[in-house]
Amino acid sequence: MKLTYLSGLLACCLFGAAGVQAAPQDLGKFHSDSQQGCKTCHVSPNKIDDSEAHENQQCRSCHGDYSDLKNPALEIDPHGSHLGDIACTSCHKGHEAPKFYCNECHSFEHKPMPFADVKAKPAWDKEWDQQKIQQAIAAGPKQSTDVVVIGAGSAGYNAAISAKQAGAKVVLLEKAPFSGGNSMLAAGGYNAVGTKQQAAHKVDDQVAWYVEDTMKGGRYANDPKLVQILAQQSADGIKWLESLGANMDDLKRSGGARVDRTHRPSGGLSVGPHIIDVLRKAADKNQVETRLNSRAVKLVVNDEQQILGVVIHGKHSGYYMLGAKSVVLATGGYGMNKEMIAYYRPTFKGMTSSNNITATGDGIEMAKSIGASMTDIDWIQAHPTIGKDSRILISETVRGVGAIMVNKDGKRFINELTTRDRASDAILKQPEQFAWLVFDNQLYKKAKMVRGYDHLKMLKKADNVAELAKLTGMQPKALEQTVSSYNHSFKVGKDSEFNRENMPLDLTQAPFYAVKVAPGIHHTMGGVAIDEKAEVLNLQSWPIKGLYAAGEVTGGVHGYNRLGGNAVADTVIFGRIAGKNAADNALTK
Ligand code: FUM
Repeated sequence: MKLTYLSGLLACCLFGAAGVQAAPQDLGKFHSDSQQGCKTCHVSPNKIDDSEAHENQQCRSCHGDYSDLKNPALEIDPHGSHLGDIACTSCHKGHEAPKFYCNECHSFEHKPMPFADVKAKPAWDKEWDQQKIQQAIAAGPKQSTDVVVIGAGSAGYNAAISAKQAGAKVVLLEKAPFSGGNSMLAAGGYNAVGTKQQAAHKVDDQVAWYVEDTMKGGRYANDPKLVQILAQQSADGIKWLESLGANMDDLKRSGGARVDRTHRPSGGLSVGPHIIDVLRKAADKNQVETRLNSRAVKLVVNDEQQILGVVIHGKHSGYYMLGAKSVVLATGGYGMNKEMIAYYRPTFKGMTSSNNITATGDGIEMAKSIGASMTDIDWIQAHPTIGKDSRILISETVRGVGAIMVNKDGKRFINELTTRDRASDAILKQPEQFAWLVFDNQLYKKAKMVRGYDHLKMLKKADNVAELAKLTGMQPKALEQTVSSYNHSFKVGKDSEFNRENMPLDLTQAPFYAVKVAPGIHHTMGGVAIDEKAEVLNLQSWPIKGLYAAGEVTGGVHGYNRLGGNAVADTVIFGRIAGKNAADNALTK
């Protein structure tokens, strides 16, 4: 029998539904009172694999799948989150009080959810134990494989699936208790040129324009060879995602792009959770071995700087070496590593971040320590619209679909769809360094993600523009004037004040909404230097034999400023290149 009632009850208790008694804090003790004792959860208490696969299977065998556990009666349903179908043990700790992943980013009305320990550091934030690392290397590989991929976000999944399909034995490592990384939070989309979606919407676009927009956005500091690959292979990447089951049918424009080329799921869903769900399933189908709770801590090379494998710190297995002929770094950026941010960009010290807590720059540190070269490592992107005093990204999609941005006086101050660096700088020059995104019911209906912000109580809502101004502390007359002048620009198709080219909606349909935003760290453009084959380069610009990298851990693709929609494209395109080349290298050795 599936204990779905009990699970629902447990969720209710943990999330504070009124009138229900508190849930057990020690699930281990609670379960071991049954006939089966410890075997209710474990094969044997001394035999737990790092992914805790058996334990999670046991949870499901009694309590059911996520679909059984969703509880629409809960104001906030922990089993219905954008993290998708993740390991139960990500939150339910067995022998400790539960710790909810949601609280790493969310703070509902500035109060953490019940039982949250928002100050606790993640387990992998501890010092890397150099002595144990050296012991693991001295002991030699405990196991061996062809390709190790480090990091199970979009770049890692794309690399791992591609390497597997090329015939290699692959192990995909993820330090967190569930996969997805920062990609899981991607809200915008995937930039591509020459797709059937663009054809269906009659969008005239060219590879050369994609390249030019990306180079211009990056202040021409990008590596043009990598940008050419990004643009040229972008449509193929969309087809590949579709072949795995993704829906990328909606099109919009992101800041810095001259046409609509940002592809995302139809129905207004966020791109990240969707493609991670698709990639998780594809990895399972392709039998990619995924090890969760397994943090790579050291790249092992021989005297010729050739890759021999990786030292891993497993949650239960401790430090061990996994031999590999090729390694792909797909560890993401360092947007959640406060020390690295303060070091590389002191002016951003202490700034909020939209990133997943996994974005701690591990790959950069590991690659540096074996002599990899870095490109543009100090270039960090502040996204202009993070919910003020939160870690929640208010996607560029909201502006792309039609919102305007005003300052505390209710006045527009920039083309809302300029590049992120310019928009962030402009907000930081406004009084009190914040802005409001203002939109109407047409946008609310069109962009599904806005309902998520509403659910998180981030939106102010009013029946008319003057009321909205009162609610938000703006001058009613000034905001009315701004909206009416924007509506006029919409009508005549020309924004003579700020030259915004793309105005998909006017603001005429009540209710009206506003969300308060300020810049926050979003993307780290710099990272390990790679060539066109996604090989990592050493300080002399020669490839480090057997080492590949893709996604935010790399530098060069985005220059000094990344355009919205180019990160997901980067992870898919270079993830696939890295995976295929890593497999070819391993199989020809
Ligand atoms: O604003 C956004 O939706 C972010 C998109 C991106 O970083 O590509």
